[in-house]
Amino acid sequence: MRLVWGPAYELGILVIDQQHKRIVDYINDLDRLVGQPGAQLGVARVLYDLVDYTESHFSFEEALMERAGYDKLDDHHSQHRKFIFHIESLLRRHEEGVDVAESLLRVLEKWLFHHILEEDRAYTQQVRDFVDGIGRERLGGWVNENLRKHFRMM
Ligand SMILES: [Fe+2]
Repeated sequence: MRLVWGPAYELGILVIDQQHKRIVDYINDLDRLVGQPGAQLGVARVLYDLVDYTESHFSFEEALMERAGYDKLDDHHSQHRKFIFHIESLLRRHEEGVDVAESLLRVLEKWLFHHILEEDRAYTQQVRDFVDGIGRERLGGWVNENLRKHFRMM
C-alpha cells in the first residue's frame, strides 16, 4: 500500500475526513494499477469515480464553508474548479488511448499534500467553530440534508 490514512491527514471534521479518505483509496488503487497489463479498465473506473466524487465532495465542502461563514470561499471554489478541469483533461487523454495512471497518481498525491493538508486546513478553525456552536442535533440535520443534496448515491 502506498499510503495509509491516519490522523496526520485529518482536519478533525468527521464528515469531511471521511470524504477525504477516498483520495487515499484512489491513490492506492492507482499505485496497484501503474505498469500492470490491462490496467486501463481499472484506471477508467478511478477516473469516472473521481469525476463524480469530486463534484459531490466539493459542493458539500463549499456548502459547509458557506454555512460557517468562511471568508475565502471564492478562492477555494476556484481551486476546486481547477482540479476538476485537470481530472477531466486526464479523462479525455485516457479516452484517446493514453496511459494516464502515473500522471493521475501524481495529481492526486499533490492534491492530498497541497490542497487537503494546506488549503483545506485554512478553513478548519472557522468550520470547527461553526460545528461546535450549532449543537449536535442541528448539525446532524444539516449534514444529513446536505449529504442527500450533494451526493447522488446517498
Ligand atoms: Fe477543498
